[in-house]
Amino acid sequence: MTATDTLHRPLHDLRISVTDRCNFRCRYCMPAEDFGPGHNFLPRSEILSFEEIVRVARVATGVGVRKLRLTGGEPLLRRGIEDLVAMLSTLDGIEEIALTTNGTLLAHHAEALALAGLARVTVSLDALDPLVFGHMNGVGARVERVLAGIEAARTFGLGVKVNSVIQRGVNESEILPLARWAREQQLTLRFIEFMDVGETNHWNSAQVIDAQEILSIIGREFPLDPLPPTHAGETARRWGFADRRGEIGIIASVSQPFCRGCTRLRLSADGQLFTCLFASHGHDLRPQLRGRADDSVLHSALLGLWQSRDDRYSEQRGQVHAPKAEMSYLGG
Ligand code: GTP
Ligand code: 5AD
Ligand code: SF4
Ligand code: SF4
Repeated sequence: MTATDTLHRPLHDLRISVTDRCNFRCRYCMPAEDFGPGHNFLPRSEILSFEEIVRVARVATGVGVRKLRLTGGEPLLRRGIEDLVAMLSTLDGIEEIALTTNGTLLAHHAEALALAGLARVTVSLDALDPLVFGHMNGVGARVERVLAGIEAARTFGLGVKVNSVIQRGVNESEILPLARWAREQQLTLRFIEFMDVGETNHWNSAQVIDAQEILSIIGREFPLDPLPPTHAGETARRWGFADRRGEIGIIASVSQPFCRGCTRLRLSADGQLFTCLFASHGHDLRPQLRGRADDSVLHSALLGLWQSRDDRYSEQRGQVHAPKAEMSYLGG
């Protein structure tokens, strides 16, 4: 069965965060002042085991889930991540498993991930300029490592998309170089409007470069034509280069919210189910997972949660004031 929520949206995707840790300190996500040595990351005992994650995913297929995305923090920091992919790829009903990563560890993992059954990776890359990139990632990480990760992923047959978050005053000068590079590389790149996720990233609407402005910057060099969505509930609006040499996407959650087609459920590393990226709290599954509840109890919990869902934060922005969970905890 496919569950639908109070706004008639079917459940289709489960985004699974496997760790709240990351080897980057992107200023728009995990600023070092808030995520320094004193920060309390989730203790190991609270983090779901692979068996627990697979169990949730299996039950979720019974409520409609067809696509899985592994996220973090940085999911490649979770030891044995390939084993988790292999376990998830045995599930009936799952059509695709993807993973969102900052790419620094991808060159080491790409082959094993592909062999385990991963279909695609989405690599975050906010700048090609080494200084801008080093500043944004907060740890001085080098862009070459990410590029090597992308190269390895392609070598081993993984699909690759690239995500670039754009912030005014930080990396708008990278929009055209990134678009040029992605076009040359024949990679699908999506520019993302800086979002007001979490409570620590000092979001300010003046820092958002909206879809229209991004498109007009790219349009100076590359005329673009709108393309139809590839599937219902897609986060990105697609634009094709007029000479048909590739496409780019814009994820405009601030200026053009896409809640109406939102089919995504999120599972945090400590077993909380979130029905929206901007929710202040989740539904704790651990009592059922770690108690004696059987799968039918879990099934009812997932079904009930989705059927009562009415979230549409991006459409109501400005009217909601509850504290929001952090992006690095929820996986974006
Ligand atoms: P594809 O399956 O490749 O289309 O990936 P995706 O766009 O669903 O996921 P990805 O992890 O690449 O996320 C891209 C950007 O969109 C990130 O900034 C996410 O935080 C954001 N995003 C993903 N899903 C949602 C959502 O449901 N709501 C909002 N507001 N943003 C989202
Ligand atoms: N706004 C938009 N995108 C963000 N990401 C992280 N924080 C934000 C934010 N505040 C992106 C990451 C990654 C994806 C999962 O979410 O760069 O590509
Ligand atoms: Fe940056 Fe992603 Fe890590 Fe957040 S989780 S600090 S966006 S690499
Ligand atoms: Fe879905 Fe919430 Fe994002 Fe809207 S704001 S698209 S409901 S996750």
